[in-house]
Amino acid sequence: MARLVIVSNRVAIPAEGKASVSAGGLAVAVNEAFSAYEGLWFGWSGEITENPDPEPKLIERGRVQYAVLDLSPQDYKEYYAGFANRALWPIMHYRVGLGSYSRSDYSGYQRVNRTFARALAKLLEPDDLVWVHDYHLIPLASELRGQGVDNPIGYFHHIPWPGADVFNTLPASNDLLRAIADYDLIGLQTEPDVQNLSRNLIDDMRAIPLGGGSLMVDGRRTKIRSFPIGIDVAGFKDAAEKAGSNKMVRETMAGLRTRKLLIGVDRLDYSKGVPERMEAVDRFFASNPDQRGNVVYIQITPKSRSEVPEYEQLSREVNEKVGDINGMLGEPAWTPIQYVTKAYPRPVLAGLYRAARVGLVTPMRDGMNLVAKEYVVAQSEEDPGVLVLSKFAGAARQMQEALLVNPYDRFEMSEAIREALYMPRDERLARWKPMNERMIREDVDWWARNFMTELENFRVLDRSPP
Ligand code: UDP
Ligand code: G6P
Repeated sequence: MARLVIVSNRVAIPAEGKASVSAGGLAVAVNEAFSAYEGLWFGWSGEITENPDPEPKLIERGRVQYAVLDLSPQDYKEYYAGFANRALWPIMHYRVGLGSYSRSDYSGYQRVNRTFARALAKLLEPDDLVWVHDYHLIPLASELRGQGVDNPIGYFHHIPWPGADVFNTLPASNDLLRAIADYDLIGLQTEPDVQNLSRNLIDDMRAIPLGGGSLMVDGRRTKIRSFPIGIDVAGFKDAAEKAGSNKMVRETMAGLRTRKLLIGVDRLDYSKGVPERMEAVDRFFASNPDQRGNVVYIQITPKSRSEVPEYEQLSREVNEKVGDINGMLGEPAWTPIQYVTKAYPRPVLAGLYRAARVGLVTPMRDGMNLVAKEYVVAQSEEDPGVLVLSKFAGAARQMQEALLVNPYDRFEMSEAIREALYMPRDERLARWKPMNERMIREDVDWWARNFMTELENFRVLDRSPP
């Protein structure tokens, strides 16, 4: 069996004998995908050091070997906080106005990709299948080819791919399009993402469609397909069922007494629509005063990328909003919004999801959104809750039975909250069941297996058809 080599910026190395806690869909999914393969996971150690060692640190944990590199303070600033998270992230999430590009950040991004490629090339064996993840590493295949690596290399993009009119506003757009075409297989979350990238390559790189999702770009063939990412359904259901014995879940439920719970779980990121959601909750209490005191909204929002100014600004905005709403509406015996910025282990989240009558997942734009899937899977058939889901989350395509909302419309969201809270069990069940079944069928193994089958079928000879 070929070895699987995963490459991603964020690597979730489990502490010895423990499952890792990581807030972020990529680390969670890749960790679970590894359960089916033996292999190597290569990426950033999470450490920042002056003059990092160019040789990766090797760590063995069960069937997975980890090889990780530190970043220098300059790498971190330019590659991670700068180009990846201040230029690429906002553009990929359709937020052109929030993007901030600098040439030095972009050259830092290219430098780190080259450093990663040099270190990784030495670890690769001829039969390895290489699977690269996410926007931090778009140029990695080109850099690996430059190091003489001939293995099949696939790429999965966890976030949206916008239309060309948005993507092309990025000064480095053509470079990135040229680089991404060096992958043998490109996976995206949804069909619209596939359409956007394919059109971008055809219009701006003069790619020639070969049928079946394959394109010829500069004499090389690449294939583009959607692979919607899933979750570890069996593991998550099990955690949700057992969560009653978890102290924090028990205490939270006891604190609720007869109150109904709305829950939101998101990294503190402007793509997630947290302030907009809080305004919708505020509006809900304004138009349903009889519900004050009867409903509590818990928002779990681990801090993320705090060194990026736009994230710091968001943090201040949310703090202010929570303070305003709680100050205006709250009573000594009732706080409408309980806002926490710590990350919780997923078994705790599973219990809270199950206890919540409504899951609020209302990103302004999201590649997929695993929280939406986790919320559905955590529900019990006896008394399932209702998912209120943004139509701009990739997950909406597989979850049409949710209450789909436009996150830019606070009124619509507030009405959806009311509808969810009053929805009779029959309707809750009728909506939940088909989504739950789809989540079971299209889980994380299904996602990883589909991608790997496609990558295994790739033949180096196919790369340059006559
Ligand atoms: N998560 C977690 N602890 C937290 C908050 C989130 O483990 O306190 C997990 C959550 O359960 C989910 C992932 O982080 O599996 C977030 O993935 P999603 O696709 O929703 O968003 P992303 O953060 O990747 O943009
Ligand atoms: C999203 C991205 C991942 C990233 C995660 C957490 O899921 O798609 O690539 O790892 O957010 O963000 P961070 O910047 O902490 O790695």
